[in-house]
Amino acid sequence: MTQPIDDFLPQPLCRLDELADPGSKGLMHQGQALFAVRQGDQVTVFENRCPHRGIPLEWVQDQFLDSSERLIQCATHGALFLPENGECVAGPCAGAYLTARPCHISNGQLWLD
Ligand code: FES
Repeated sequence: MTQPIDDFLPQPLCRLDELADPGSKGLMHQGQALFAVRQGDQVTVFENRCPHRGIPLEWVQDQFLDSSERLIQCATHGALFLPENGECVAGPCAGAYLTARPCHISNGQLWLD
């Protein structure tokens, strides 16, 4: 049996208009849990894994931001991370980083580099 050709073509993570501004969205890519954060023109993608305990950050689907919507927040112990580079700036893993996945926008879609 042959595999459909679509299985070999790069697939976008999501459409840009699926990301609220500001907003965040959980994503699956090749079996790996990721999430995207949008703030204006800036979109960043990280692995959905808190450096404190190695667990997913969100308790509520697609909610990765704090109440100010300016910082990424881990729901378990409240660590706060900068959306631009994933640095933890407060909480039990201060100074650690989320794992960033380089990405770009093309044709209104979000792609991993
Ligand atoms: S598991 Fe994320 S702050 Fe503890």
